[in-house]
Amino acid sequence: MELAFLVLSFFLSSLFCYLLFQQYSNLHKNLPPSPPFKLPIIGHMHLLGPLLHQTLHKFSLKYGPLISLNFGSVLCIVASSPHFAKQLLQNNELSFNSRIQTTAIKRLTYDSSLAFAPYGDYWRFIKKLSMNELLGSRSINNFQHLRAQETQSFMTLLANKAKTCEIVNITEELLKLTNNVISKMMLGEVEEAREVVRGVTEIFGEFNVSDFIWLFKKVDFQGFGKRIEDLFYKFDTLVERIICKREETRKKNKRENSNGQARDFLDILLDFVENQSSDVKIQRVHIKALTMDFFTAGTDTTAISTEWALVELVKNPNLLRHAREEIENIVGKNRVVEESDVPNLPYLQAIIKETFRLHPPVAMVTRSCVTECKVENYVIPENTLLFVNIWSMGRNPEIWKNPLEFRPERFLKNGEGDSVDVRGQHFQLLPFGSGRRMCPGVSLAMQEVPALLGAIIQCFDFKVVDHTTGKILNDVGKIDVGERPGLTAPRAHDLLCVPVERIKCEAT
Ligand code: HEM
Repeated sequence: MELAFLVLSFFLSSLFCYLLFQQYSNLHKNLPPSPPFKLPIIGHMHLLGPLLHQTLHKFSLKYGPLISLNFGSVLCIVASSPHFAKQLLQNNELSFNSRIQTTAIKRLTYDSSLAFAPYGDYWRFIKKLSMNELLGSRSINNFQHLRAQETQSFMTLLANKAKTCEIVNITEELLKLTNNVISKMMLGEVEEAREVVRGVTEIFGEFNVSDFIWLFKKVDFQGFGKRIEDLFYKFDTLVERIICKREETRKKNKRENSNGQARDFLDILLDFVENQSSDVKIQRVHIKALTMDFFTAGTDTTAISTEWALVELVKNPNLLRHAREEIENIVGKNRVVEESDVPNLPYLQAIIKETFRLHPPVAMVTRSCVTECKVENYVIPENTLLFVNIWSMGRNPEIWKNPLEFRPERFLKNGEGDSVDVRGQHFQLLPFGSGRRMCPGVSLAMQEVPALLGAIIQCFDFKVVDHTTGKILNDVGKIDVGERPGLTAPRAHDLLCVPVERIKCEAT
């Protein structure tokens, strides 16, 4: 009995000394405040829930707008206020212009992607090329007819289902639409990558213990390795087939001295592979990495934002009425909303901003510190991982009145968000990040998402199916707004609806 007591007191006092030492060492290192109960080896990992941005939001409410934590042996800081977001992403931009490299990211992005490449010559070259040839205003406008076609197919599907009163999985169909848009813009044809994309965004957002705890560097008891290889195999087979097919077409065109079809992004990249005189050598692996980049960064995010906006409007019939009135006044009833209408629809634009505030599809901007820097009195060491919690800032009552209420009016004249835009200069609203590493797809998304949402609500009402009972939900206020874990923050359950046609949805 006495021995047990001795062992227990020894254990407790060692733990106490250890915790005291940890707190002291953080103070000593001038790190931002940290939650207590940091354990040896795993650090704060035992405190993390499945939805990381939500756990970190709770910590920030308790310990302040800039905190530090240890995910295993990796030091992290979390910024949850516009002030610190600006300090880190703008004032110390050069220190935070790289991203995390995990086993999954390295393998699935061929260690050569735009989104995860270290800041340097290759990143600069490929970002400029993507902006010039795919995501700049000229290309976006050139590809507008492709997006209109995809919207029309989606609307026709809804109209057919409305006639037969059938349930549509809106989540799946939106993802199909955005997948087709990116695929046609990049590859000139529709390639089905939805399943791989969801798998990749999920695995990028999960914690692989061997990435964070040095002791388990070589151990894979969560089975990540197999999942990564399965996804890699599926994607690589798909993209290899696309590239081979295009190489054959190019050879044939050359033989026949024919110009063939108009050149798309894939052709431009293959030209670079053939022309080895350019400063940055582009190889097959870079094409694969970029294809992965655009599929993962550009499909899920766009579909998720459209779905969240639609859900919020169905939940709030007064706002839906307001949005429809605006559309009816500006566009009328004889044609469907198009991208060119968006600048004339301020309420629709406000709905999109409000969606990004409350449901940012990428909940946290994640960067990695490449050189030690000082932020106010704190010293942030090299290799620290940075999370800027945009989800948390969207819920901050010091910035937004009644933050949990979905109220697009806050982005109109005299609202607290009047004149706030989403292009990385207003640090209270950063759905696309900020600075040099900001999202290059912002212009495309800000044209595509409002036009798509506008067309949907103009033409259809929706009866939402309760995912638990499978029956029509009578109380729309009860539509579920839970989230699913991952790199992006989609709704926890697919949106299943029976569409009801309001007006004919054929394009003019
Ligand atoms: C609603 C739609 C979208 C949202 C909310 C979104 C959000 C984001 C965010 C938060 C980042 C990180 C920015 C930072 O670190 O500061 C990012 C990066 C990126 N996004 Fe998007 N995105 C969207 C659509 C797109 C589209 C349509 C594309 C391309 C077709 C795209 C391609 C990329 C790429 C390549 C990066 C990495 C940029 C770099 O590291 O330099 N995104 N996006």
